[in-house]
Amino acid sequence: MSHIKHSIACGLALLIQFTAVTAYAGKPAAAPAGDPVAGKEKSFLCQGCHGDDGISFEPLIPKLAGQYGHYIEKEVRNYQSGARSHPIMNAMAGTVNSDVDLADIGAYFEKQIKMKGNGSAGNPIGEDIFLHGDTAKQRIACVGCHGVKGKGVSPTTSMFPVLGGQQKEYIRGQLINFRNGSRTNSPGGIMNLMTKALTDAEIEALAQYISVQ
Ligand code: HEC
Ligand code: HEC
Repeated sequence: MSHIKHSIACGLALLIQFTAVTAYAGKPAAAPAGDPVAGKEKSFLCQGCHGDDGISFEPLIPKLAGQYGHYIEKEVRNYQSGARSHPIMNAMAGTVNSDVDLADIGAYFEKQIKMKGNGSAGNPIGEDIFLHGDTAKQRIACVGCHGVKGKGVSPTTSMFPVLGGQQKEYIRGQLINFRNGSRTNSPGGIMNLMTKALTDAEIEALAQYISVQ
């Protein structure tokens, strides 16, 4: 367990270094929290795809249940500005007109019971990369930023999304997008760096490991 704590500390130290040189586009963690009660109604349209309680059933539609509200807000802003591209979400993000509405929607999904996988055996190769990284390939352990089982570290580190229990196909797709540079909105391009040396088989193993948590 202590090496995991150590990895988390390393990941956070690294983040502090790289946020110092790259302005983080999201809201600071200390920004006022949204109102989850108001967010329930405001997220009606979103629930149509992401699920009433943030649990989607389509493999390419991400779960938002228990995701950090600030991360949700940052991604919606990125879809609005075009910093992140997806034909459906660029249009959907355009329907959110105010910062207050966006904060409330984020708070609603964050409040839902955290996403969860089916808890099956997982994948030893994926687990090894997730927990230990690979220094030879300049790859830091995923656990350092995304937390044990990908459940996130804490709301104060909301720039690192919750991954554990997320849709497998969605995770695979995002890792491929980061690797080929079609998704470039991670702060400092950190995820482009983290995926650069991943093989298809390693991406598959990671998606499997992460999604069952
Ligand atoms: C018609 C279906 C649909 C609707 C409605 C919809 N979404 Fe999405 N959403 C998607 C899909 C598909 C993706 C994956 C896009 C991608 O691959 O970049 C996504 C991705 C996201 C993400 C990124 C999640 C992550 O883990 O990075 C957020 C945040 C999000 N949607 C929020 C919303 C909000 C807020 C609304 C309502 C204003 C909404 N969505 C409405 C289909 C939808
Ligand atoms: C130094 C910190 C750091 C490390 C290490 C790291 N990540 Fe990330 N990751 C991030 C950040 C920051 C984001 C959010 C990107 C954004 O703002 O859109 C992210 C986003 C992601 C996403 C997209 C989530 C979503 O909902 O769309 C996936 C998948 C992911 N990381 C997987 C991994 C895997 C697998 C590893 C290990 C190989 C890893 N990450 C290592 C910082 C890190």
